[in-house]
Amino acid sequence: MQYSSELEATINDMAQKGRGILAADESAPTIAKRFKAINVESTEENRRIWRSLLVTTEGLGQYINGIILFEETLEQKTDDGNSIPQAAWAQTIVPGIKVDKGKIPLALSPGDLITQGLDGLAERLRSYKQQGARFAKWREVYAIDKHVPSQHGIEANAEMLARYAAVCQDEGLVPIVEPEVLMDGDHDIDRHANVTEAVQHAVFHALHRHHVQLELMILKPNMVLPGKDCRRASADEVATATLKVLHRCVPSAVPSINFLSGGQGPEEATINLNALNQQSTDAPWKLSISYGRALQQTALQAWQGKEDNYLLAQQALLERARLNSLAQLGQYNPDMEQADT
Ligand code: 13P
Repeated sequence: MQYSSELEATINDMAQKGRGILAADESAPTIAKRFKAINVESTEENRRIWRSLLVTTEGLGQYINGIILFEETLEQKTDDGNSIPQAAWAQTIVPGIKVDKGKIPLALSPGDLITQGLDGLAERLRSYKQQGARFAKWREVYAIDKHVPSQHGIEANAEMLARYAAVCQDEGLVPIVEPEVLMDGDHDIDRHANVTEAVQHAVFHALHRHHVQLELMILKPNMVLPGKDCRRASADEVATATLKVLHRCVPSAVPSINFLSGGQGPEEATINLNALNQQSTDAPWKLSISYGRALQQTALQAWQGKEDNYLLAQQALLERARLNSLAQLGQYNPDMEQADT
């Protein structure tokens, strides 16, 4: 593989102990939804201000070693004139880019979804790389209902993830492979575990078929949880169920597993990550984060779109990142949350 030493260096920079990935790659409709909750209009300038705020948080690099950006952010500048990728590098945070173009229904397969964006991907990656990106992210989404995801849907999605990952490695960008089984619905934790296992199994089969080198990728999975409308599970139950699936599906060659938060609250996502790390002392992979909402939510609430709140928001982000860093070491305790308010 042409770029293996470059890919190895990127993995090394992104899979460091006690550090994780900040997902700040919300698509236009998603960031508009997040801003609406704090009465901020989603203009290009407001998005620039928000994402500059995140990436220039002093000290963030202590806990965060990668940031996923949205296409427009790659070109934006912080107030002191650096590009946002440069500002990330200044804190030893590797900049990356979401490259999928969102989900649509899978044709002739009611209820299944599929993500678009493969056409022209290699050319896009080349230009993102020139703008400073060193890794990419692609998300496939699986809703749970009575008859979905279907086996056909699971296989079609796995094929997309593997084709994307192969193009990334071919172009010298580390692929983050994200199969997200949603937690919407009233299914129990066992159903979520069964679907997650089938999904991950298919993904690793497809990655193998497409010659993807597992040492040079990062898996971004969901934790195994009960549906939002089902009885809650304890952190220990979540950790046990999640680790069982991961041990069955994820080869030890994969260096790092960085969970998405997927609608868990900030504290819940940290508690669950801590339990996972406490239970997994013998796991072959690093268990870390690639949280979007669970890292940004308290900071967004503190910001409210006001310049005066800029530093408060940065403090909230830093604190969330710090607590998640402790959770990666299994050293977090919910009593530490008081310092957050
Ligand atoms: P959440 O942590 O908010 O689920 O977002 C992570 C992400 O990047 C989804 O693609």
